[in-house]
Amino acid sequence: MSLPEIVAPILPATSLKQVSDAELARYARLIYERTGIRVSPQKKMLLSNRLRRRLRDTGIDDFETYYKHLKGLRPNHPEWDAFLQEITTHETYLFRDEKQWDWFRKDYLPERAASAASGKGPRSLRIWSAACSTGDEAYTIACCIAGVLPNVQAWTIQIVGTDIGVGAVEQARDAVFGDRAMRLVPKEYHRFFAKANDGPTWRAKPILSNLVRFQQHNLMDRLREKPFDLVFLKNVLIYFDADSKGKVLENVRAAIRPGGLLVAGAAEGVADLVKDFTRIQPWLYQGPER
Ligand SMILES: C[S@@+](CC[C@H](N)C(=O)[O-])C[C@H]1O[C@@H](n2cnc3c(N)ncnc32)[C@H](O)[C@@H]1O
Repeated sequence: MSLPEIVAPILPATSLKQVSDAELARYARLIYERTGIRVSPQKKMLLSNRLRRRLRDTGIDDFETYYKHLKGLRPNHPEWDAFLQEITTHETYLFRDEKQWDWFRKDYLPERAASAASGKGPRSLRIWSAACSTGDEAYTIACCIAGVLPNVQAWTIQIVGTDIGVGAVEQARDAVFGDRAMRLVPKEYHRFFAKANDGPTWRAKPILSNLVRFQQHNLMDRLREKPFDLVFLKNVLIYFDADSKGKVLENVRAAIRPGGLLVAGAAEGVADLVKDFTRIQPWLYQGPER
């Protein structure tokens, strides 16, 4: 069966259209102003598909009318949340990027534990999972901490996960992950999740969920929080141009304590934006002690 035959009963005829070049340019400007994300002309089909779902849900017939509708709404209107949730890419899974988690489990956490045991360092950790999508990265951090720190209850641990997508944040708060998201979780950490008897889902147990909290946040704005020891900023800057990357990095730097660390995606190109940080790995940077 061809695609139009499948969707025709559900969608109105206009739904199969794509945005025009002029509409694409207007939407791209709107998205850039709000999120810092660059939508290239090659994304015409992708944007059209994603917008179609908003047209269907709002009952609006065409892209132009939806654009005007959106522009007229206050920034915290639920339709803006739904739009941003739709146009952003939320791909994520636990233990994504093995090298970084090996470093976190085998170097960073044992060093912090040894330093606390000798009385040199605090028994506390504040970590920000920035652009955390559905929380998989924040729960990966929690898994490693619960698995590696000998007496996690004696520590003050705060893992803050943030994302611009309200739907993503709500899902993160649910703390339920499918088999696909769980596929790289080391076997020894399966004990931190309760597997559903009747389906392919895993719910994080309180030993993990007590360590994390989630909130909506746009990386283009400052996060009003106490400084963090460590910030994870992965697989998000790839969607930004140089100007908005610069702005995000300014906000992220302001959230890192003196001497704190930034873990970035390997392909995210942050080196030039954190020149006063020491590059430890292509994806790991240490801020100045000040
Ligand atoms: C591909 S996911 C990456 C998730 C996770 N960091 C990882 O590496 O698996 C990118 C996330 O960035 C979020 N995002 C995009 N622009 C954002 C912005 N301006 N502020 C905050 N989050 C943003 C999206 O909503 C999406 O959930």
